[in-house]
Amino acid sequence: MNLFMKPLFSEPATASDYRYLAKQKLPRFLFDYIDGGANAELTLERNCSDFNSLQLRQKVMRDVSHVDVATTLLGHDCALPLALAPVGMSGMMRQRGEVQAAKAASQVGVPFTLSTMGVCPVEEVNQAASRPCWFQLYMLKDRDAVLSILSRVKKAGCDTLVFTVDLAMPGLRHRDTRNSLSSTTARGKMSRAWQIAQRPSWVMDVGVKGKPHILGNLSEILQNTSDFSDYAKFAAAQFDPSVTWDDLVWLRQQWSGKLIIKGVLDIDDAKRSVDIGADAIVVSNHGARQLDSAPSSISVLPSIAKAINGDVEILMDGGVRNGVDLVKALILGANGAMIGRPWIWAVAAKGEQGLVDYLSLFKQEVQYTMALLGVNQLAELSPDLLYQ
Ligand code: FNR
Repeated sequence: MNLFMKPLFSEPATASDYRYLAKQKLPRFLFDYIDGGANAELTLERNCSDFNSLQLRQKVMRDVSHVDVATTLLGHDCALPLALAPVGMSGMMRQRGEVQAAKAASQVGVPFTLSTMGVCPVEEVNQAASRPCWFQLYMLKDRDAVLSILSRVKKAGCDTLVFTVDLAMPGLRHRDTRNSLSSTTARGKMSRAWQIAQRPSWVMDVGVKGKPHILGNLSEILQNTSDFSDYAKFAAAQFDPSVTWDDLVWLRQQWSGKLIIKGVLDIDDAKRSVDIGADAIVVSNHGARQLDSAPSSISVLPSIAKAINGDVEILMDGGVRNGVDLVKALILGANGAMIGRPWIWAVAAKGEQGLVDYLSLFKQEVQYTMALLGVNQLAELSPDLLYQ
């Protein structure tokens, strides 16, 4: 960082501070890959602005000397009702990025979710962290490959699978197109990533003898892959647009552990997930990277929570940036929330310690917000604490 790029603060505190630092560190195309949303980015804007427009009802003179934010999610102890969302290629944002994130998450006491498209293998992530990660799965055309991933994930110690249902087609992210990074120009994208991986100053994981450990969770399938462009072709060919609820029935039969269905915005889809045997759902628009003009996750959460009526746990994500946002989500019916971009920004900016610091302040924000709302227990967070 040169003199002219000196940050306006000595220590980052908020998600936007880490975003600012990540922007200084990452090459433009990688920063945009994380930051961007689909099409005109209308949903991207709403994911945050809908949180911001919710107003909390301050309550004073209550005894709030015993605020407790610890809970369980899917039976796992959590220091606060938060989990790190799966982010593809996150290992590229810092050396062994997913390992650093998983270590930070276990230090703070929240689950980390490793993406199918993660750079670091599930075995390495679980070995490094003191609690097993959750594993996110996309349905691949090659169902034998899916079965082999499931058995590998189970063997590595994961008991919670996050199955993502909102990626019938990868969204059109125009920032990626502008940076030659879209799935239609995969060759350009990957060769640029490859070139950057060769730079000695780059923080990206360049692996053994300069060969990237790319996509650890697909490594068995990709064993003959020599560079990124092979991977891009493979990934584009493996996303399966023909997936239906029947495949989910099949998946439920194959996976005996906890199953979370991620990417639900519609009441009927939420109920169907429950009928199929999901243990939880994530109300999510994929961080606004899929259907543009879909509603923000926070705006549909109350109706879904009402329809599900406590049958399964409900997580939500999209636009959660701080502890105040999390409290709003809990008030509107979520059992917990996930964050995507914020954890990537923190890891890209300051590695494992950056994420520990960000999550620790996030937890404090939850505690302080609850105290100023006059409540000690998460169960006391109810809609009467919001101005309607
Ligand atoms: C994602 N997300 C995602 N989801 C998933 O199920 N599998 C994946 O591989 C990815 N990859 C991915 C990459 C990037 C760069 C981003 C930003 C997001 C979606 C992610 O899990 C989560 O739903 C959103 O990021 C939540 O929104 P916020 O917190 O980023 O606003």
